Amino acid sequence: MAKAKSSVFFCQECGYESAKWMGQCPACHAWNTFVEEKLEKTTQAVKKLVKDVNVTTLDAIKMQEGQRIKTEISELDRVLGGGIVKGSLVLVGGDPGIGKSTLLLQCCRNLSEQKKKVLYISGEESLQQIKIRAKRIGEFGDSLFLLCETNLDIIQEVIKKEKPEIVVIDSIQTMYSESVTSAPGSVSQVREATGTLMQIAKGMEISIFIVGHVTKEGVVAGPRVLEHMVDTVLYFEGDRHASYRILRGVKNRFGSTNEIGVFEMREDGLHEVENPSEYMLSGKPKDASGSVVACSMEGTRPILVEVQALVCHSNFGIPRRTAAGTDFNRVNLLMAVLEKRLGLQMSACDAYINIAGGIKMNEPAIDLGIVLALVSSYKEVPIDEKTICFGEVGLSGEVRAVSVAEQRILEAKRLGFTRCILPKVSLQALKSIDGIHLDGVENVQDAIQCICNGN
Ligand code: TYD
Ligand code: MG
Repeated sequence: MAKAKSSVFFCQECGYESAKWMGQCPACHAWNTFVEEKLEKTTQAVKKLVKDVNVTTLDAIKMQEGQRIKTEISELDRVLGGGIVKGSLVLVGGDPGIGKSTLLLQCCRNLSEQKKKVLYISGEESLQQIKIRAKRIGEFGDSLFLLCETNLDIIQEVIKKEKPEIVVIDSIQTMYSESVTSAPGSVSQVREATGTLMQIAKGMEISIFIVGHVTKEGVVAGPRVLEHMVDTVLYFEGDRHASYRILRGVKNRFGSTNEIGVFEMREDGLHEVENPSEYMLSGKPKDASGSVVACSMEGTRPILVEVQALVCHSNFGIPRRTAAGTDFNRVNLLMAVLEKRLGLQMSACDAYINIAGGIKMNEPAIDLGIVLALVSSYKEVPIDEKTICFGEVGLSGEVRAVSVAEQRILEAKRLGFTRCILPKVSLQALKSIDGIHLDGVENVQDAIQCICNGN
């Protein structure tokens, strides 16, 4: 029989696993990041344990009513899929200073007002600092308990003793377990800590939130492994210098992952933005070329955003292109479509695309918005400000159908838009809607006709 491996090596940056130590990680090319981890032999122990394990059928499992706890922050509840599921482990990731601690403290405040026992464990801030933050946020109920601790073994005991309903761990990267020798924040420590918390969550039916910092590349620091282990992954994103923040569900075992929650950071903490479209469109310039409103679905909600484009003659051999808030390659592709199908000299132009408001939009439905913004800037024709558009653009320049067209149009109508450019196929499937003029287009040429004739 082959000898069982007693240890493996992991890259601390990306979690790459290898049997040998290496100087450079073949996956992420980082130097000197491999650490050794011992593998424990468990076969004997498992054989003993397996005797007491029973399998079960779905019918035999009883559903418990009211398993979800509402946080009363409706944007957060929506992203979680309708509230916190008992015994779930939720990872909240985001850049430093984006507002993760603030959001979770606000969540704790609401839960403590509902007389739920909450334990907030911080490994980053002192009790004094938490108090200062809490004072800005408002009044707290008396069922919120605080603890400054980074030793996971102690935390485990405290949780067992106090039996809270909800636990917040402010930053998993500061936690360490004495059974693992590497430094806090390393792959092994973070994995060990998350594993322990997972056991607590499932075993004691406690919902646990963990905060994870994000590296420059935008993933939860070091270990992607973390994402596989937890039930729900939420990312808090947005421009630190602007006041709005977007909470996005990336993985959710108990709900949809497409939902987003929009918040605004003010002096007294985060406020929910109930009408993201209005918010995103505030400050839209009038009669400017290269600006158009497009509609994208974020989960169950249509959100209207302003797509801006600036196309100008390039002074260098290789034109410059940037895309903020949308996929760069998609923009290049759409410009190639315009060049090939409409004969516009895009390859001689620099192009800058921006989705105003700092939100990231990756739904193909905003393709038409990008195309119209590009053409509007290229031809210097402003697009009527009461016009919105949506539709996916294919490689032959055809405008393809998108889902839930009606809901998008109704949202546009609610915000006072009077004209909508949409795929012809989607239009045919629609009942007529009063108060808004619908222009079904088959391809990009038609769409461009619409904007040029409309002015
Ligand atoms: P924080 O929650 O500490 O970020 P994270 O935990 O993600 O690192 O948020 C800190 C930022 O939020 C900081 O720049 C100050 C700002 N802030 C406000 O603008 N208003 C407030 O009421 C609070 C508490 C913070
Ligand atoms: Mg923090």
